[in-house]
Amino acid sequence: MTSPELRLVPALPEHVDMWMALREEPASRRLVPLEPTSRESLLERLQAATHDVRHPTATSFRWMVEWDGRLIGTVSARELSRFHGRVEIGYMLSSGFHGQGLGTRAVAGVVACLFEAWSFLHRVWLTTAEDNLASQSVARKLGFTQEGLMRGHFLIEGRRKNQQVWGLLRPEWEARRAHLTFPFARMHGPAPR
Ligand SMILES: CC(C)(COP(=O)(O)OP(=O)(O)OC[C@H]1O[C@@H](n2cnc3c(N)ncnc32)[C@H](O)[C@@H]1OP(=O)(O)O)[C@@H](O)C(=O)NCCC(=O)NCCS
Repeated sequence: MTSPELRLVPALPEHVDMWMALREEPASRRLVPLEPTSRESLLERLQAATHDVRHPTATSFRWMVEWDGRLIGTVSARELSRFHGRVEIGYMLSSGFHGQGLGTRAVAGVVACLFEAWSFLHRVWLTTAEDNLASQSVARKLGFTQEGLMRGHFLIEGRRKNQQVWGLLRPEWEARRAHLTFPFARMHGPAPR
């Protein structure tokens, strides 16, 4: 029996309710500094993002993570600077699918695609709460280095927390990638324009 396929599919406006439910899950609320946001505002963000890494001017990208035909999470890349060669990523999986290596495989799929698609890209970075050990583990496994700590940077459920900054430079990714043996999530979807 073959194992189910892990795919990155374009994030579309029709995914708004799934994304909203994902953000409302207790694990997401406990670990991610999500500001209260309306459905309309999430819809606008989905409309403003693209999956098309060949788009010449886009700065905001989002994919949904599909496992065995079900949407189980999302990965984004935002504030792309073509001038500085950097982009910030974010990721979130539904808690029923945590701890099986799927998050690492999904983020690896996006990081690989970005470095491959954008020859100008030098740096991928992310932030994570100091107590978000699973997210830190994903970053570490992919070769990111913790670069800093922003003290008291956000509130989660009324508690002020520190936020870590992690970064991955192209040569570090190339060295790390050579040692990653698990299958990365693959990008699927309509051909880029
Ligand atoms: C972060 C997230 C995407 C990781 O996805 P995942 O599929 O659970 O991750 P993986 O299974 O690929 O890897 C998780 C790693 O964290 C480790 N981990 C999980 N919980 C942990 C804990 N409480 N303490 C220490 N390590 C932990 C696992 O052991 C695993 O590492 P290993 O492979 O070395 O054993 C997922 O947990 C998630 O969506 N969390 C809620 C939203 C969130 O935190 N998003 C990130 C915001 S920065």
